[in-house]
Amino acid sequence: THVDWDVDVAEKGGYPDFMMKEIHEQPRVIRDTLAGRLVDGHLAIDELDLSAEELNLIDRVYVIACGTSYHAGLIAKNLVEGWARIPCEVEVASEFRYRNPIITPSTLVVAVSQSGETADTLAAIRDARVKGAKVFGITNVVGSPVARESDGVIYTKANKEIAVASTKSFLGQVVSLTLLALLLAQSNSKLTTNQVRLLFGELADTAEQVEDILSDTAAIDEAALACKDAASALFIGRGMGAAVSREGALKLKEISYLHAEAYPAGEMKHGPIALLDEGFPVIAIATQSPVYDKLVSNLQESKARGAMVVAVATEGDEDIRQHADHVIYIPKVRDALSAITASVPLQLFARAIAVARGCDVDQPRNLAKSVTVE
Ligand code: G6P
Repeated sequence: THVDWDVDVAEKGGYPDFMMKEIHEQPRVIRDTLAGRLVDGHLAIDELDLSAEELNLIDRVYVIACGTSYHAGLIAKNLVEGWARIPCEVEVASEFRYRNPIITPSTLVVAVSQSGETADTLAAIRDARVKGAKVFGITNVVGSPVARESDGVIYTKANKEIAVASTKSFLGQVVSLTLLALLLAQSNSKLTTNQVRLLFGELADTAEQVEDILSDTAAIDEAALACKDAASALFIGRGMGAAVSREGALKLKEISYLHAEAYPAGEMKHGPIALLDEGFPVIAIATQSPVYDKLVSNLQESKARGAMVVAVATEGDEDIRQHADHVIYIPKVRDALSAITASVPLQLFARAIAVARGCDVDQPRNLAKSVTVE
């Protein structure tokens, strides 16, 4: 009825679906997740309830999660190892819980879960604690089982997420994990206070950069229209881009039912390149990074086989146009923080394809918002 329609539009804040509304909330999520977290050059995450001395003892980190939350973990690995120089493994909870991971009292397990009630993640938390690990939870739901059963918790401040496919929670998780990596690096003196201040400032700047991306989506929509009728798509990247491409492929298959696969770009020649033929979509994270040139070589190999290349690239990079059919520019940001900005166009890309294919963006078939049974 007419009345229901009005209510519906109001709930979605004027956006056509919850996913779009939630994508647009992301600058706010970044700001809220960071608010009050840097005090006099020191990270203030007091709710973790570990002293700097205790944090300094941590010599191994596991990030355990499922689905999109697992992908936030893949991004975090680069930061925990890169900044804090602590070995970090990322594992899906359903695997972690059934093997015998190496856990000691100096092991930190970070459980990431939007809902805070995913069965496998909870089981992994319980198992890790029995084995003597410290467990930090990163969740979006206050008082959820993950929050209650962890030794400390960071809340992602995304507020309620309704679309089944996670977007704003994911960004909140990446930002929270970035804070945790900074905290570890500050505690074991791998980063100085000045470095932490600088990185925190740049992290805060991503809110505005995401706003910038959201303000003009023409290139994203155009690339999506070009790809919408494909049977399959390949997402590639290196380093941070490899992790970002995993989430990009997941978003696309979740909501558009278009088969998508992500590969570290350097692995293309070991298999997926066999798939490429005329018009096959290759979506590449080609932002400025130490491995940018390597990635460009992979684009050349893709183009030589007729693939349709969509590149997410850094503003000002004109050369990339020679190697891509569609270029989506995002603001310049340091590589360590690039997952935050580079993920956003891939969310919009997946959504635009789902809409073009007539899919129910918010409620994809066969999927549930939270999976509380095994
Ligand atoms: C389900 C949802 C995904 C989510 C995953 C993990 O599969 O559809 O969007 O990423 O569960 O959920 P969690 O609440 O633990 O982050």
